Amino acid sequence: MKHLVIANWKMNPVSTEDAIRLAKEEDMRDVIIAPPSFHMPSVRAVIKRGALCAQDIDPIDALSGPYTGAISPLLFKKMGVRYAIIGHSERRAHLGETDDSIAKKVHTALTAGIIPVLCVGETSEVRAGGYMNARDFVLRQIERDLDLVRGGVGKLIIAYEPVWAISTNNNDGGVIDDSESAGEMIQNIKAFLAESMKLWAQYKIVGLYGGSVGVNNIGMFLKERSIDGFLVGGASLRAKEFKKIVEIIHS
Ligand code: PGA
Repeated sequence: MKHLVIANWKMNPVSTEDAIRLAKEEDMRDVIIAPPSFHMPSVRAVIKRGALCAQDIDPIDALSGPYTGAISPLLFKKMGVRYAIIGHSERRAHLGETDDSIAKKVHTALTAGIIPVLCVGETSEVRAGGYMNARDFVLRQIERDLDLVRGGVGKLIIAYEPVWAISTNNNDGGVIDDSESAGEMIQNIKAFLAESMKLWAQYKIVGLYGGSVGVNNIGMFLKERSIDGFLVGGASLRAKEFKKIVEIIHS
C-alpha cells in the first residue's frame, strides 16, 4: 500500500490567494489537503491529483436541517471532500472536544460517506507514566471514540499523534517521538481493532503518524512497517519542505 500524506494546514493561510498558491504546489498523488473550510472551494478548484479533507465535522446525524453555524457533511460531500480529521488534540485541549462529541462526529462522517481521520494520542503527563500507560490511554480513547460505529464496515484512518510531539520540530529543544515506539503504538492500535469480529474488525484500518514530521525525521518513521502514512502540520505550510517530504516518502 502506498503511504498517505495529509497536509493539515490548521487555520492557515489567511488569504485565499496564498491558499491557492499552496494548494497548487502541494497537489500531488496520494496527498490529501486539509485546508480551513473557508478555502475549500478555492482549493478544490485548483487541485487535480490530490484529495480533500475537512479539519473537523459537525456532529449532525440528520445531515441537514436547522443547525445555525454548522457545516452540513453533505456540503463537504458535494465539495468533493473525502476525509475529515476528527478529534485533533488541539480541539480536545482548547475547544471542548470530548470523547462523546468525537464519537458522534465519527458516526456522522461514516453516515455521510466521509472517511474519518480519528486523531488520538497521549499527553506528556500520561507518557511520563511509561509506554504501557500511554498505550492503555490511547486504546481507551479509541474505544470511546469509535463507540457508535461498532459492528460497521468501511475505512477508518487512525492518526496517532502524541500530544507532546506536535509542533515541536521547529523549536529548539523540541521533543520528537522515537520512530520505534510510534510504530509499536500503531501496531498496537491495529491489533486492538482487529481483536473482535463484533466491534471494529470489519473496518479497513489505516494507521498514520503525526507529530512534527519533517524532512529531518521522515526517513526513520518510514522504516516502521505499521505506519501507513503521515499527518503533517507545520511542514505542510512550507511547500518546498512538504514536497521534499512527499518525494522521500514516494521514492
Ligand atoms: P505538526 O502538526 O506536524 O506541526 O506537529 C501535526 C498535527 O497537529 O496534525
